[in-house]
Amino acid sequence: MEPLALYIHWPFCLAKCPYCDFNSHVRDRIPQTRFRDALRHELAWEAERLGRRRLTSIFFGGGTPSLMEPDTVAALISDAVRLFNAAEDLEITLEANPTSVEAERFAAFRAAGVNRASIGVQSLHPEALRMLGRQHSASQAIAALEIARATFPRMSFDLIYARPGQTLPAWRDELRQALALAADHLSLYQLTIEPGTQFATLHQRGDIVLPAADEAAALYVATAEEAARYGLQAYEVSNYARPGSESRHNLTYWRYGDYAGIGPGAHGRLDAVATRRHRAPEVWAERVERDGHAIVEQTPLESTDRAREMLLMGLRLTEGIDATRFAARTGVALTDALDASVLERAIAEDYLVWRDNRLVATAEGRLRLDALLGALVC
Ligand SMILES: C[S@@+](CC[C@H](N)C(=O)[O-])C[C@H]1O[C@@H](n2cnc3c(N)ncnc32)[C@H](O)[C@@H]1O
Ligand code: SF4
Repeated sequence: MEPLALYIHWPFCLAKCPYCDFNSHVRDRIPQTRFRDALRHELAWEAERLGRRRLTSIFFGGGTPSLMEPDTVAALISDAVRLFNAAEDLEITLEANPTSVEAERFAAFRAAGVNRASIGVQSLHPEALRMLGRQHSASQAIAALEIARATFPRMSFDLIYARPGQTLPAWRDELRQALALAADHLSLYQLTIEPGTQFATLHQRGDIVLPAADEAAALYVATAEEAARYGLQAYEVSNYARPGSESRHNLTYWRYGDYAGIGPGAHGRLDAVATRRHRAPEVWAERVERDGHAIVEQTPLESTDRAREMLLMGLRLTEGIDATRFAARTGVALTDALDASVLERAIAEDYLVWRDNRLVATAEGRLRLDALLGALVC
């Protein structure tokens, strides 16, 4: 049986960032006790139906999980370890924002069992942090990274680049400064305009202009070059790590492994069934209090759905997709899931290659992944 990854969603933030479409909400007072109890309740319900499966990772995502009481994090970790068959090297990641108040709690999160921090720095430039609506300064972010490095065995942080007006030399400079602060992992995302966000409105009005496609491609290529110079290899479109320090939790998603998701809006993929929880925090809590869970959708995935999903996830990885695993997970041969003539052309043009029974998108292919997948996937 596939091992299990566990995602726990904390839906609250101090403020809503104008670019963000994650399931995150601002409240005058966060109902800590109610949400601790409801998360524990939903975890117990999920474990009851899943049985003692082998658990390889836990990921506290958000929203802003560093706003959780450390006791809540500790209780959820000990529940998960008790309810599942936890791996000895269980990876436990918590997403944190780098305000000083949150950085002060890193030691308590470490004591609760968190062994990997993922910190949302976004930029090291004060004017970019303002534009992104962040609640922390660059110096607070740098201080938080230093505390995190000293506190957690593993640490990653996120930056957003390809921002309006960002030049290639300016990004190289900022990235070099970031790499000097990095540990074993970085997530480097190009800014995307998500429907329904404040940035979407500004973008529509022409008040935000993103770099053109060729500029964005040059920024992407420079990003991989700079990261590699520091020993961080691209192992996924936006993720860079020292070999062996890849995020095991996120690899489960990209390798199309099984994961359970609890908390408002959390998704799961378990034994070929897609699950989704209610997104609204208070409605989610009410349903958990009433029924033990807040699942609003449970959809069995046909082979063709699974094949499509596994292709979309797997070609993001530098290691590509193993054809034997693909057939075992989807019930479809890898070549049958692809448009044969597009595949042939993509290989001829060096966007895709076969390497040891794996289909791999080359660096050129990863640059055009969305277009490639659109044409390739039957
Ligand atoms: C769940 S989110 C945020 C975690 C944490 N609350 C924070 O803000 O630091 C994970 C990451 O997605 C990235 N992200 C969110 N929206 C984005 C967008 N529109 N474009 C690019 N990256 C985005 C940010 O780097 C963010 O840190
Ligand atoms: S980027 Fe992070 S802090 Fe900002 S709204 Fe989204 S989840 Fe919250």
